[in-house]
Amino acid sequence: MTKRTIDYAKYFTAPNLKKARKRYKEDIEILDFEQIPEDVRHIGVGKKYLIKTYGCQMNEHDTETIAGILEQMGYAATDDEKSADVILFNTCAIRENAEDKVFGEIGRIKPLKIENPDLILGVCGCMSQEESVVNRILQKHQHVDLIFGTHNIHRLPHLLKEALFAKEMVVEVWSKEGDVVENMPKARANRLKAWVNIMYGCDKFCTYCIVPYTRGKERSRLPQDVLAEVRDLARLGYKEVTLLGQNVNAYGKDLTDIDYRFGHLMDDIAKIAVPRVRFTTSHPRDFDDHLIEVLAQGGNLVEHIHLPAQSGNSLMLKRMARKYTRDDYMRLVEKIKKAIPNVVLTTDIIVGFPGETDEQFADTLSLMREVAYDSAFTFIYSPREGTPAAKWEDTTPPEVKKERLLQLNEIQDAISLRKNEQLRGEVVEVLVEGESKKNADVLSGRTRSNKLVNFRGSKTLIGQFAEVRITEPKTYTLGGTLVCDAQREAL
Ligand code: 5AD
Ligand code: SF4
Repeated sequence: MTKRTIDYAKYFTAPNLKKARKRYKEDIEILDFEQIPEDVRHIGVGKKYLIKTYGCQMNEHDTETIAGILEQMGYAATDDEKSADVILFNTCAIRENAEDKVFGEIGRIKPLKIENPDLILGVCGCMSQEESVVNRILQKHQHVDLIFGTHNIHRLPHLLKEALFAKEMVVEVWSKEGDVVENMPKARANRLKAWVNIMYGCDKFCTYCIVPYTRGKERSRLPQDVLAEVRDLARLGYKEVTLLGQNVNAYGKDLTDIDYRFGHLMDDIAKIAVPRVRFTTSHPRDFDDHLIEVLAQGGNLVEHIHLPAQSGNSLMLKRMARKYTRDDYMRLVEKIKKAIPNVVLTTDIIVGFPGETDEQFADTLSLMREVAYDSAFTFIYSPREGTPAAKWEDTTPPEVKKERLLQLNEIQDAISLRKNEQLRGEVVEVLVEGESKKNADVLSGRTRSNKLVNFRGSKTLIGQFAEVRITEPKTYTLGGTLVCDAQREAL
C-alpha cells in the first residue's frame, strides 16, 4: 500500500484583499457542480452537522447550499452542538460587531473540540476572505480545522475530506472570484419561501463596504438557469421567491452577448406561477425606467422595494462613492411612487461616516421624512480594513454617532407607526408562515410588502394565504382579524 501524502501548498490558499479588488476582463465560466466524488459520498453517514449563519440573506442561502452538499455526503442536520461532527460558522464581515461575535463563538466552542477531537470546526463566508481574519485564526485559534472562502463552497467535499485526514488547518480561499457554479445541491430551510441567486458579487466599491472584496466581481447567472430554478420552485409549491444579488439592478450587465437586464428578468418571472416574487438588494444608481415599468404591472411582483439610500447628503454620498446625489435619489423615489402608488419603500442608512457633520446628518433626517419609508435598517459606520474610508480621518466621537442613531431610529419609528396606522381597517393578503414566536395561539405571516401580521386563526391556515383585516397597527408589526381564506377554498 502506498502512503498518501497531502500537498498542503495546494490546499493552503490564503486570501488577499488587494487581489480581490482587481477586476479582470476575462469571461466567467458557467460550470456544473461536479458530483460528490465516490470516495467521500458516504463520509457523513451516521454523522451530524450544524451551521451557524451570520449576516445577510446571501449568507443564509449559501448555508442552504453548504447544507445541501453535506446532506449529499450523508450528514444529517442537528441543532445540538454536542452531537455535531461538523460545525461551520458561515460568517459576515460587513461590520466589526458581526466579526466580534464570530470570534467570541470560535473561542466559546473550543472545549467541545477538546472533548471531541474528531469534531471538524470550520469557518466560511465573508470573514474568511479577509487575510487579517485568517491570520488571527491561524495564530490564536488553532482548534479550527478548516477555512474556506465564498468562492470555494463547491469545493467543500474535497476540503472536508482533507480536513478529516489532515493534521494541520486546511485553508482554501480564492481571492479572485470563482466561476458561476450551477446545480449545486440545496437543503432549503423554508418550505414556503425560497431564495434564488440571480447574480454574485459587486462592482460598486462604495468606499465603506467590504462586500466587493469578499464577494468578488459582478457575475450574472444565465436567464435560462434563473428561470428554470424559479419554475421548479413554483412546481414544488413555493409561495414566495426572493431574488438575491448584492446589486440586483446590475443583473445582466456582464452578459455581453445578450441585451437582457433585470427588468427583462422580472418581466419573464412575472409569467411564472409563483404567487410572490421579491428581490434584494437594489442600488439606486442602476434602477432603470424599464424595471419600474415592469414592477408597476404588479401581479406576482410585490410592491415592496428596498432602496438603500445610506445618506441624505450629497457630499456624504459622493464620499461614499454611491454615484448619485440626494436629488437623483429623490427623483427616483418620486418616479417609483408615481408608477406604483401603493409601493412600500424601505432603506439602509449609515450614520457617522467619516467627516459627517451635524448639518449633513440633518439632511439624512430630512430625507427620511421626505421619502417616508415604511422601515429602515440603520447602522453606525464601522471601518473595514482594506476599504478606502477606513483610512480617512474620523473625528466624530462615538457618543455623537450613537446619539445620531437614536435620533434616526426615533424619527423612523414615528414614520413607521404612521404608515402602519394607514392600514387600520384595511384587508391585506397574508402568507401564513406559522405560530407567532411570542404566542403559540396566534398565527403570524407577512403581507406582500413584507410586514409582519399577527392574528388568530386555525393552524390549518399555515402555508396558505389568508385575508386579514388590520385592527391593531403597531410600529414594527400589525395585529389583525381573519376575514376569509378564499385561496384555501380554491386549493
Ligand atoms: N459600516 C456600517 N454599515 C455598513 N453597511 C455596509 N458597510 C458598512 C460599514 N462599513 C451597511 C449598508 C448596507 C448594509 C447591508 O450594511 O447600509 O446597505
Ligand atoms: Fe457594498 Fe455598495 Fe456593493 Fe452594496 S452596492 S454591496 S453597499 S459596495
